[in-house]
Amino acid sequence: MISPEVIEEIKERCDIESIVSSYVTLKRAGSNLNGLCPFHSEKTPSFTVFPIASNFYCFGCGAGGDVITFIMKIEGLDYPGALEFLAKRAGIPLDLNGQGSNEGKRRARILSMNREAGRFFHKQLYEKAGIAGHTYLTQKRGLSDAVIKHFGLGFAPNDFGALTSYLSSLGYTRQEMTEGFLCGISRKTDKPYDYFRNRVIFPIIDVAGNLIAFGGRVMDDSTPKYLNTSDTPAFKKSKNLFALNFAKKRGAEHMILCEGYMDVIALHAAGFDNAVATLGTAITPEQARLLKRYTKKVFIAYDSDAAGQRAAERAFRLLAEVGVETKLLKMKGAKDPDEYLRKFGDVRFKNLMEEGKSRFDFTFDNVLARYDLQNSEDRIAAAKEMTNVLSGIVSGVERDVYTHKVADHLKLPFEALQRDVDRLMRKNRSETKKSEMRTIVRKTEGYQDRVNPDYIKNVKAAKAEEGVLGILLQFPELIPAAQKLLSCDDFCTEYGRIVYEALQQFYIDGKLEIGRLNEVLTEEQMGRVMRMKVARDGLLNNETVLHECANTLKMAKNKKEMDIYEIIDAKRRKQND
Ligand code: UTP
Ligand code: MN
Repeated sequence: MISPEVIEEIKERCDIESIVSSYVTLKRAGSNLNGLCPFHSEKTPSFTVFPIASNFYCFGCGAGGDVITFIMKIEGLDYPGALEFLAKRAGIPLDLNGQGSNEGKRRARILSMNREAGRFFHKQLYEKAGIAGHTYLTQKRGLSDAVIKHFGLGFAPNDFGALTSYLSSLGYTRQEMTEGFLCGISRKTDKPYDYFRNRVIFPIIDVAGNLIAFGGRVMDDSTPKYLNTSDTPAFKKSKNLFALNFAKKRGAEHMILCEGYMDVIALHAAGFDNAVATLGTAITPEQARLLKRYTKKVFIAYDSDAAGQRAAERAFRLLAEVGVETKLLKMKGAKDPDEYLRKFGDVRFKNLMEEGKSRFDFTFDNVLARYDLQNSEDRIAAAKEMTNVLSGIVSGVERDVYTHKVADHLKLPFEALQRDVDRLMRKNRSETKKSEMRTIVRKTEGYQDRVNPDYIKNVKAAKAEEGVLGILLQFPELIPAAQKLLSCDDFCTEYGRIVYEALQQFYIDGKLEIGRLNEVLTEEQMGRVMRMKVARDGLLNNETVLHECANTLKMAKNKKEMDIYEIIDAKRRKQND
């Protein structure tokens, strides 16, 4: 455990207003601040920062917590990771090897081991064992030593024991090396052996400056072309992007999303220092959200082969879902950005960005390519597909412009196409409404309450329970009074019991900090804690009210809990009302 004193200091020095402000534009509203929630898409701000209480809550999606929760969510870190992140920002030294939770310790060890390994690989490039690697990077790939240093590229010697024996000499255990994906264990000899051999090495560094993983490329045509660190306690592929550590500093107006490490490096070397790449997988929703945090617009610079274009379609979709504007770069005459830059240079690449295709054009071109427009049936089919696409465009002006374009290309009367689009839009709207209604009904009934699934079983007791907890969260000094009234077993939901237990525990420890609930609760559960607290704002929160809530809880709890059939019946009754 990181000592409560250190956590306290971190929280004191990282004031929530300035931390959140570096991710969200906040506007003052009375003593609080409002902004657009970074955790869900919204048009009107329901994300609120309470500077006095040092916490935040989103009335839209229910995310909430303190500055540590915020960093956990927005940077995709676990609790110790977020503490480390904030400590670094505040310049507080954290001796994570001496302390820290078990998971945090393991993670810290892997990270420090990765740093040593990265340095080791890098040094090899300038030694005899690494000549081949250096030649490959400079001669074959045209990289300068400055670029090699900038990215910390390296070389894994053609040797089964080079890295493992080096890391062992530094005191890293076999378990740490396997867990960190740097070595395997030989079945024959039961000895560790280097995973990365005879490959040039690309270190992957997260936004907090941790070396989290490696990619290793062969220098010929053998397979696999790349060997990558798979997920470790310190690394999640789906949540990170290569070179985001460099790209994010630029306060980027836009970013360039590529497929390959080499593409990114070539782009940076040519001055496009806002290029990033996924880590050997198709883009994930987490990565889309990550990009959204740093930029409004993304140029998709995927390979021009069929696989690359399919991947681009997915990137278009996922980025649109999080509200990032996208443009596709069409690299004629080259298979990827790396090759394009070599062949045509940076000026042409810059021009390419100006001609970037919108998602619409991209889709339309694909449709046009699939149909033979001389054939009437094909034209009808193409029109049908495009009607679908057009009906999904929210902006009226844009829809109009594109409808004209489709009508022109397919040689159809504009009015006829527009009528079809309108009809489809009306149909979609009424269907969305229906499904929205269904969602609302479900939500209000607590039917899909993932955080507190027991809530629906005894709503009255659960409400009273939230009252008790809300009051205690507002006034921790009432915890001893609550203890006299309620034991953990008096709580009717598992969630409530966990929160109550944790509050008591932290109180006994002598340090009640809501933020410490991060240690035992998930992010969603933490959001609910904030909701319970905020719900008590402006209400009377004193010992008398606490008594009332506790009594209601006890009485309601003693009424038998409903089983699933009773719940269904209750719901049906309610619907018939
Ligand atoms: P590419 O095959 O396009 O590689 O794969 P590249 O990085 O552009 O390399 P060069 O230009 O041929 O040298 C794109 C990305 O897919 C992942 C890597 O992240 C790579 O950068 N990949 C590819 C793998 O993880 N494993 C593989 O075997 C191949
Ligand atoms: Mn490539």
